[in-house]
Amino acid sequence: MPETKKLMRALAGEVLPTPPIWMMRQAGRYLPEYRATRAQAGDFLSLCYNSELAAEVTLQPIRRYGFDAAILFADILLLPQALGADLWFETGEGPRLSTITTEADFAPIKGKDDIHDHLAPVYETVRILARELPKETALIGFAGAPWTVATYMIAGRGTPDQGPAHALRQENEPLFAALIDRLTEATIEYLDQQVQAGAETVKLFDSWAGSLKGDAFETYAVAPAKRIISELKARHPGLPVIAFPREAGDGYVGFARKTGADCVALDNSVTPEWAAAHVQVDGCVQGNLASSHMVTGGQALVDETRRIVEAFSKGPHIFNLGHGITPDADPENVQIMIDTVRSTVPA
Ligand code: CP3
Repeated sequence: MPETKKLMRALAGEVLPTPPIWMMRQAGRYLPEYRATRAQAGDFLSLCYNSELAAEVTLQPIRRYGFDAAILFADILLLPQALGADLWFETGEGPRLSTITTEADFAPIKGKDDIHDHLAPVYETVRILARELPKETALIGFAGAPWTVATYMIAGRGTPDQGPAHALRQENEPLFAALIDRLTEATIEYLDQQVQAGAETVKLFDSWAGSLKGDAFETYAVAPAKRIISELKARHPGLPVIAFPREAGDGYVGFARKTGADCVALDNSVTPEWAAAHVQVDGCVQGNLASSHMVTGGQALVDETRRIVEAFSKGPHIFNLGHGITPDADPENVQIMIDTVRSTVPA
């Protein structure tokens, strides 16, 4: 049967009359229905581990807007928790974890095959979604990339410059590399289970890839992504993979070729014209409207949306934001973005 889902067609390299569209953090606090379901669950982590409610919040933006893809509702930090790290969220501040700075901290971290009991509710969420999504909507699974997840496991929180992770890499590279290795192996098993449960594509979020430079970018952003992607494709022939080495700058060039990714997601620090010339030459790209437009709206939102659609119109493209939508976004601006994408006829 020929593939009819727009997102899957773009991932296969097809140039469509208008690009498929979805939005990072499309299930989130800017939606009143999300806030209500989160309150029902109790807190964010309880929501992630409640398969019925996690599926419900995944479906909310699909019902409201008819996006071309749904992304599993979960978090990149559930995997470290499954590996044995403590994890909690401080209200208004973000994630907190136990830290890893010594061999003794790393010793209790579990093996790649010991994560599935903890993550079973996530796989169940995927199974519910595979059953309940409209037939035209693609289902995206995801995980954090090893480097980004490691930055949280080492520092125990989000950091502006990933300083503690860079420090460990320089001061005890064998320990740092062992952590990256464990995460790489566990991420393969985690994503493999999501695909078995019904995810049609998976996305690797390397939100802090931009702070790795030179050889470190090759060793800790490119190489782990390559290993994860090649192993997943060996187990699931034809599985498309989206990679998001956020703020990689020049590192975006050739990233798909080097890692085997089918699509590279772009943040909005690069212009769509530059990315069309230097990144889209290798295949599908995703992006890259600044999420601030979802707050400010107006003519600038329409103009910038059209500019992105037109710049990428000669090759395969998935429309998205450059990063997650923020809680202060106006839900009406999301509708304006979607209407603009679906009505822009490139010159
Ligand atoms: O995109 C989606 O809608 C799917 C679900 C999803 C969430 N987090 C839900 C979430 C995905 C794909 C993520 C990825 C994620 N989580 C990343 C990588 C992408 C990125 O944003 O760079 C990172 C770094 C995290 C870790 C994380 N989770 C942080 C730093 C925070 C706190 C910041 C914030 O926005 O509050 C979270 C919490 C989080 N993850 C929320 C959501 C909807 C907000 C929690 C809430 O409802 O209170």
